[in-house]
Amino acid sequence: MRKTILTGIKPTGQIHLGNYIGAIKPALALAKDKEYQPLYFIADYHAITKGYDVSKFKELTYGVAATWLALGLEPQEVIFYKQSDIPEIFELTWILSCMAPKGLMNRAHAYKSIVDDNITSNKDSDSGVNMGLYNYPILMASDILLFKSDIVPVGKDQIQHIEIARDIALSFNHHFGETFTLPEYRIQKETAVLPGLDGRKMSKSYGNTIPLFEEPKKLRKLINKIVTDSLPPEAPKDPDTSSIFQLYQEFASPEDTLRMRKQFAEGIGWGDAKNEVYKVMNQFLEEPRERYVELTSSPQKLDKLLKEGAEQAREISKANLQNIKEQIGFL
Ligand code: ADP
Ligand code: TRP
Repeated sequence: MRKTILTGIKPTGQIHLGNYIGAIKPALALAKDKEYQPLYFIADYHAITKGYDVSKFKELTYGVAATWLALGLEPQEVIFYKQSDIPEIFELTWILSCMAPKGLMNRAHAYKSIVDDNITSNKDSDSGVNMGLYNYPILMASDILLFKSDIVPVGKDQIQHIEIARDIALSFNHHFGETFTLPEYRIQKETAVLPGLDGRKMSKSYGNTIPLFEEPKKLRKLINKIVTDSLPPEAPKDPDTSSIFQLYQEFASPEDTLRMRKQFAEGIGWGDAKNEVYKVMNQFLEEPRERYVELTSSPQKLDKLLKEGAEQAREISKANLQNIKEQIGFL
């Protein structure tokens, strides 16, 4: 049997280079491997755990769908769906909620960091925390375990969530008998975290992103904004600690990457290096950008594709939920 590989992206903002390099690119490469059955989805119910703009929500959801497709996701190869179209995920979320220790959620990084911030600013420790945010890891465990996922490609920040899913699966299997597959995360090593314009992790929440399908002029401007050190052009530079080089190698051929590595060692001005980054990036993105614009202007087509994907996904999720309910004595 083929191994199941599954990942999801939330429609919380415009997809940026960090999402592409950390999550989408490796997932699309794995989808080409016939050893795997890929399931990729839009984690729309995860997106409402923090304040969100109702009027933009659908557009963002279509944006994520169009991004995957524009970059080469083949609906014949990948089961591609929206989380909210799979009711079994939410039924399983409740079942898992009744089995997951509360302490496990207390230790989740995302929740803990809000609590820490609240304490520092003398607020109630749970101020601004809704139950969806608190239960976020259980919904994610349900996404993963329902489809018996073997491999979950994600960025580094998601490792703890996969570990929580494993813990829940282990304890469930121990109590009710072998039911769930233990998932493993898959991280893209060199670029586990792509820095943003200001050098911190590129993230929608920091407003330091380069949107993937930005139009060429704006793309160029944003690349020029990436912070660098103040070494003069002729000074040798370390490619391995440079986000400019990191970006370059994601889009350039191995030969060009080697050439750029040499130029860094010999000394290259940041302006010139940024120009090279722009060139390779824009060349790669030209076609997908066109496809993206085309796809976002035909939402009916996207709806149809996602519905078909949900039907395929539900063949699996219904059968698996049935089995889970038998294990816990409901059937
Ligand atoms: P954001 O931090 O912008 O809100 P998400 O949390 O929605 O991004 O992340 C979606 C996917 O993209 C996840 O798998 C995440 O690990 C990955 N990802 C996000 N930002 C980066 C980054 N800067 N570098 C590498 N991967 C990233
Ligand atoms: N939490 C993930 C993120 O913020 C999104 C996500 C939801 C996910 N469910 C998932 C990722 C299941 C992998 C598998 O990026």
